[in-house]
Amino acid sequence: MLYQLSYQVKTFMNATLLQLAGANIISLIYITRRFLEKFTFSLLSLENHGCLYKKNKMKVVLVGYMGSGKSTVGQLLATELNQVFLDLDTYIEEKEEMSISEIFETKGEIFFRKKEYQYIQELMHSDMSFVLSTGGGTPCYSGNMETMLTKTKNVFYLKVTIPELVKRLSDEKEKRPLIKDISEEDLPEFFGKHLFERNPYYAKATHTILCSDKTTEEIVADIKACLDYPK
Ligand code: S3P
Repeated sequence: MLYQLSYQVKTFMNATLLQLAGANIISLIYITRRFLEKFTFSLLSLENHGCLYKKNKMKVVLVGYMGSGKSTVGQLLATELNQVFLDLDTYIEEKEEMSISEIFETKGEIFFRKKEYQYIQELMHSDMSFVLSTGGGTPCYSGNMETMLTKTKNVFYLKVTIPELVKRLSDEKEKRPLIKDISEEDLPEFFGKHLFERNPYYAKATHTILCSDKTTEEIVADIKACLDYPK
């Protein structure tokens, strides 16, 4: 009888221990799952904020005259590099809640250049990775070119001939405050003089890509061949 009782107590205790062990394994699995979920979630949200690129950050900057294709090339390049694409003019428009034309009209060019400087500083000193297309005048004011060059070796000048610029910009004058009042026949001379002033700044870019007779895909391939990837 005593033996039977002790056998029953033993069996009961074993069962309880087994149940406890089972419960512990289940809670261990549960805790591990919660941890993995949280870990994955943090990684995803870090990635969404571009922070995963922090270690290997890469800034690619495109400079060049109006109509040189900086935005079109920048978008395709960013897609191929799996990077964020930023257009400085659009960035300024969003921050200032005004179009570039409105800024020029209501606040003047000097105000626009100050904003251009402010946002170049903000972006180039950030930890973000991106492909950035700048405005045609960005590298020519306030030491912006030096700022960009000290932060990345990937500054590309997209060079386009004057006849090609005339072809591309004749129908788009209205959107561009600097040429909207210039007649079509005066455009070549205006571009010639303007480029004479701006060329020394563009020429400081790490690489010059000749773009006139190339497709967007070819230009992107040329840029990728010269890219300095993060180590
Ligand atoms: C400018 C070029 C424009 C824009 C602004 C001034 C310039 O950008 O930033 O109208 O000084 O050449 P895009 O080169 O993108 O047209």
